[in-house]
Amino acid sequence: MLSKIDLKISSLERALGLEPQHNLLLEGRDDSPDVCKSWSSADTTLFVGDNLPYLKGFALNSPEIVDMCYIDPPYNTGSKFLYNDNRRSDKGGMFGSHASWMEFMLPRLVTSREMLKDTGIIAISIDDYEYAHLKILMDNIFGEDNFIGNIIVCRSKNGKGSKKHLASNHEYLLIYGKSKKASLRGQLDESEYDKEDEFGQYRVDGLFRKKGDASLRTDRPNMYYPLYFNPTSGQVSVEPIDNWKTTYPVDSKGIERRWLWGSGTAKERVWQLYASKNGVIYVKNYAGDGITEKRTKVRTLWTEPEFYTERGTNEINKLFGSKIFDTPKPLEFIKKIIDICSSTDALVLDFFAGSGTTAQAISELNSEYGCTRKCILMETDSQIPLDHIARKSGFNAISDITIERLRLIKLAQESFVFTVNNSFSKNYTL
Ligand SMILES: C[S@@+](CC[C@H](N)C(=O)[O-])C[C@H]1O[C@@H](n2cnc3c(N)ncnc32)[C@H](O)[C@@H]1O
Repeated sequence: MLSKIDLKISSLERALGLEPQHNLLLEGRDDSPDVCKSWSSADTTLFVGDNLPYLKGFALNSPEIVDMCYIDPPYNTGSKFLYNDNRRSDKGGMFGSHASWMEFMLPRLVTSREMLKDTGIIAISIDDYEYAHLKILMDNIFGEDNFIGNIIVCRSKNGKGSKKHLASNHEYLLIYGKSKKASLRGQLDESEYDKEDEFGQYRVDGLFRKKGDASLRTDRPNMYYPLYFNPTSGQVSVEPIDNWKTTYPVDSKGIERRWLWGSGTAKERVWQLYASKNGVIYVKNYAGDGITEKRTKVRTLWTEPEFYTERGTNEINKLFGSKIFDTPKPLEFIKKIIDICSSTDALVLDFFAGSGTTAQAISELNSEYGCTRKCILMETDSQIPLDHIARKSGFNAISDITIERLRLIKLAQESFVFTVNNSFSKNYTL
């Protein structure tokens, strides 16, 4: 009997005039629930083999566990990479040579959607060649109403010279929510953190005196207490200090209000308070501390040089000694995507993991900012072509590269824990 997910896949294939992918249906597949059990304890779990049986295993047996999904699928460039990047077909029909790529993507997008929580977000890298076809798939699978937006990412300064008239130097990041409940965390606006002390870069933009509703002394009497400040240095103390002045949360009209925190918290976090010369107390917002940082709406044009493709290639060169992966994403790019799309304890899925950049990005975010994100990766164990530099460097299957990167992450960060699951692997033996 076909599952609910198979029926959904078939009905979308029919609606879009795409050829049914019978071989992908559940018949003959072992969608064992055990597959989904082995991920939870590790920081990163890599599932080796075709991603579809894994996605289906999760979707059927352990749905709605993922907070955020990032994927960088094969762009269908027709190039000779270590993975198959040529699904251009001559099928005629509405989508012409793009149909096969759409047929490949459709069941994977449908099943990964089932893995997302209601609040979940999916972000997908793509370039001009399949952008329109991906948008059609996503509008049909996730719903036009759940389209959050499209970010244009500059991937090099000068662009590729393959086209006659244009040197394309951008690609896209398409973002959808699973439902209306999904929202982006926003981006840090670090350029405005114009001050610095021993705790990092900060800005002083929030009053420590409560404003608006429930801001009166009578609303929270225990949040009305004296603070002591040094008018020259701006330092604040909860205890009296000789020659320092006293201030209370009293507004310009003389109304007694209250502070934002009780005196216990103020004592612990007094380093975050700053006093003006006349005793108005502010909270310092530190860039990237995850607690007080201010976030702003995500901009749709990303031109940072750290996001250029060559950065990803240099990172691979540095890690492996040569360019063993053709299209790695730069670490800082993936870190930004994860940061804007997911909470600090999110479970992130990347089912086109490639060289494993997503795992390294998450482990770096975890150690830099004390986050606890975990990650599920999937990568095929297809054999690398004999003439590819990766094969000459000793890697047989593509997933061997992902595993090696996980080992290198562990070498750099001992506390990093990863596991490898081979349930649906065809060629791989650990
Ligand atoms: C564009 S690359 C991803 C690169 C990755 N973002 C990185 O930074 O290294 C796409 C990856 O998807 C993998 N892939 C393609 N089809 C797959 C499938 N059916 N199951 C699992 N992995 C697949 C390819 O082997 C390739 O490594």
